[in-house]
Amino acid sequence: MKATAKAPANIALIKYWGKTDEILRLPQNSSISMNLDGLFTTTTVDFDEKYISDEIIFNGEAKSKQAGRIIKHLDLIRKIAKTGLRAKVATSNNFPAASGIASSASGFAALTVAACGALGMNLNEKELSIIARQGSGSACRSIPDGFVEWHKGDTSETSFAESLHPADYWDIIDIVAIISDEEKAVSSTAGQTLASASRFFAPRLENIENKIRVIKKNLANRDFRRFGEIIEAEALELQAIMMTSSPALIYWQPKTLEIIKGIHKLREQGLEAYFTEDAGPNLHIFVENKNRSALIDKLKGFEGIKRIIACKPGSGTKQVDTHLF
Ligand code: PMV
Repeated sequence: MKATAKAPANIALIKYWGKTDEILRLPQNSSISMNLDGLFTTTTVDFDEKYISDEIIFNGEAKSKQAGRIIKHLDLIRKIAKTGLRAKVATSNNFPAASGIASSASGFAALTVAACGALGMNLNEKELSIIARQGSGSACRSIPDGFVEWHKGDTSETSFAESLHPADYWDIIDIVAIISDEEKAVSSTAGQTLASASRFFAPRLENIENKIRVIKKNLANRDFRRFGEIIEAEALELQAIMMTSSPALIYWQPKTLEIIKGIHKLREQGLEAYFTEDAGPNLHIFVENKNRSALIDKLKGFEGIKRIIACKPGSGTKQVDTHLF
């Protein structure tokens, strides 16, 4: 019983940071994201009686730090499907393993759709999103297409993601600027537990529903300037929460700040580009597609960017016919 799924990474526009339930991964707030068509994970899962234990092959390697978390997620799916079958899982990212790009969202979305598909569970998008969320919170947003909202909910059944607009809704580009490809010292799972230690976290939560309402309006109007202003302010607010947690989480590197200043300068010169950033030093810089080459040319002149990956809005997680084994 074998199935394969291909899932996109996603970038949060309004971030998920902090949980109300660590086990179920229920978030403190709803969030909004865009799937990235250039960055994806492909995963094949085969459930069969011939496997005595789960076998995980991660980016071609049999030994993976992720194996424990993957097996835990398979256990959850086995429990829902009421099966004891063990599985072989092979998973591969189309982006370099140590690129500093989060792979847990695409990883757990692909694993969920492949495993549930292999077991013939026939689940709808909402049900798949609820399962993916329990592997990695942001993974629930990689299931639906395009621009996505994750409703925070207050139970497992009410905390899921759904599409706001399809991938071809808006011709904008996320230029991912890789500044560092080192593994981060504090994972986002660990970092999130510190969120409430920041005195700015409560005021953030007070205003977050309003922020979500505003960005949904900007999306509905395809208002790029307002959209850009809000995602950039949101990214800075998230970094402020991280920096004022205890212990302080400083994901920025000197180059991150240098490039942020460079982006501000480009705006002064008339190139409308806005950045966002997650739990790491790399920047996601948004432009309208018509300004794509102009921005890439400028970024090539910046020192300290190791790699540039341009991503259009992407569709959600899909089953595919070609298996990895
Ligand atoms: O899904 P996690 O546990 O890797 O957390 C993701 C957290 C951020 O990337 C910083 C924000 C987000 O909403 O994706």
